[in-house]
Amino acid sequence: MILYRRRECVIAVPTVDIAKAVVEIGTCSRSDTDKFQKFKLTPLKAKSVNAPLIKECLANIECHVTDYIEKHNIFILDAVHAWTDADRKERRTIHAVGDGTFITDGRKINYRKLMLSKLPPGV
Ligand SMILES: Cc1cc2nc3c(=O)[nH]c(=O)nc-3n(C[C@H](O)[C@H](O)[C@H](O)COP(=O)(O)O)c2cc1C
Repeated sequence: MILYRRRECVIAVPTVDIAKAVVEIGTCSRSDTDKFQKFKLTPLKAKSVNAPLIKECLANIECHVTDYIEKHNIFILDAVHAWTDADRKERRTIHAVGDGTFITDGRKINYRKLMLSKLPPGV
């Protein structure tokens, strides 16, 4: 497993405009497909990991693997750098339901005041 071997990754956060490509990317394999070329994505150099950022995504999070819980196949990641594209117009992310359907971000609900005591400094 590549994540286990390399001990690092980038979590790229796509938006609704590229949802179909996301599904196609997730239903083919790098073993026989150059996914950047096929889906016209642009790799960008990351700061702290060898894996590339994806320019077409809203956000990219560079992560180191700090632990692996074999029994449950769970990776614990430490986010070392995060990037967001401030100029991107489409900012709605997608959420997989698990049956091939997706929910798009909608109305923003603001409960900041209620949560202030729980928010970390600077957030
Ligand atoms: C919407 C979606 C969600 C997926 N979620 C998972 C997942 O949670 N775990 C997993 O192992 N594979 C998941 N897959 C399948 C992998 O993305 C797929 O095996 C991957 O594209 C294989 O690429 P690779 O051979 O280049 O590693 C998902 C695919 C799609 C389209």
